[in-house]
Amino acid sequence: MNTVTLKVNGKPASADIEARMHLADFLRDTQNLTGTHIGCEHGVCGACTILVDGVPTRSCITFAVACEQAEVTTVEGLDADEVATELRAAFSKEHGLQCGYCTPGMIVSARDVVLRMQEPTEHEIRVAMSGNLCRCTGYVGIVRAIQGVIAARRARGIAAIPGGDHRKALGPAGSGHATASANGTATRIRTSPAAPALAAATPAKAAAAPRQEADWKPQTTFTESFVVGHPVDEVWAFFDRIGEVASCLPGASLAGEPVDGHVEGQIRIKVGPISAEFQGVADVSRDEATRTGTINGSGKDKRSNSATRGLIGYAVKPGDKPGETRVDVSIGYTLTGVLAQFGRSGLVQDVAGRLIAAFVKNLEAKLSHQSGGGDAEAPPVITELDAGSLVSSVILGRIKRFFAALFGRR
Ligand code: FES
Ligand code: FES
Repeated sequence: MNTVTLKVNGKPASADIEARMHLADFLRDTQNLTGTHIGCEHGVCGACTILVDGVPTRSCITFAVACEQAEVTTVEGLDADEVATELRAAFSKEHGLQCGYCTPGMIVSARDVVLRMQEPTEHEIRVAMSGNLCRCTGYVGIVRAIQGVIAARRARGIAAIPGGDHRKALGPAGSGHATASANGTATRIRTSPAAPALAAATPAKAAAAPRQEADWKPQTTFTESFVVGHPVDEVWAFFDRIGEVASCLPGASLAGEPVDGHVEGQIRIKVGPISAEFQGVADVSRDEATRTGTINGSGKDKRSNSATRGLIGYAVKPGDKPGETRVDVSIGYTLTGVLAQFGRSGLVQDVAGRLIAAFVKNLEAKLSHQSGGGDAEAPPVITELDAGSLVSSVILGRIKRFFAALFGRR
């Protein structure tokens, strides 16, 4: 157990908690502040958004012990806040809510938009609010409510915070004052608020490097396997044609043919409201004797200033049935920058699983086309991931695991 002390809505709040408790549970379970809602617990839906040291933060992916001495403001703490009061009235007037589940997070994020952005367009408001999902109202009323409050405040001569438009980071991980030490206790430290942005900028430079450093190690690694209904020689030969392999991956394309095992390209990923287009480089290698290969790549999404490094290893071997091939894939990655907030291994694994399933379908279609005498340019059958069902499948997966754990214990 760890004793953590924060200031919540202007008052000291302390509790003995497990180091693994996230800030949303701390607020709801130890402080009885149930206005902070929990939707996905993956950092995706924004229902749990609160202010940590004045900056919107997803409390479901922030450890409470990392917030020692932080000033936390929940929706309850915004009861008397001028902007929140105007927003509540505007949400009611514009029908910006139905069930209200997303509303606490919406109000916290919308207040930030009103305070920061001087004259945002409708598109800019939608982008700024894209980290908050509403499953029942739709966004027209929400956006209109925010536009109305901004217009009214600017008409009254109340300007946005100078420079507020240029903030790049969504919020600190924790308080910006504290860090969890190795033994789990929270220690007060001072860090510059600019640190997250700088941390994101460093790998971005690495992404432009022509070759990958050989000794780089990924933060997270997981494995996947799939079976293809074609002989192992055919599949192994196909994996040598990098352009065709890339065309089987929804959203991926190459800038040109690989030169000396080095290739440039891009991949578009869309998960719910989050979309990113990583431009990058990769080194590919393969070993004929063991029928294994590696793809060592890095890329940068300019819009979010996020960067990723990845190391994919694969082994092609005969399947259990004659004429089938089993492919074992290990995926290692490190994600930095704004999108790292959504990079929890479970979510990334779900995205990768969905990408691989689509890849296998495209691969099967291409191989069947080729073995049937067709040319190599058969179009892929799946060109885009179904983002809506992806988010649903993540949530459904969590529900299934919850019931499995519940009944497994009995
Ligand atoms: S519950 Fe935190 S982002 Fe969904
Ligand atoms: S009002 Fe129901 S989820 Fe937004």
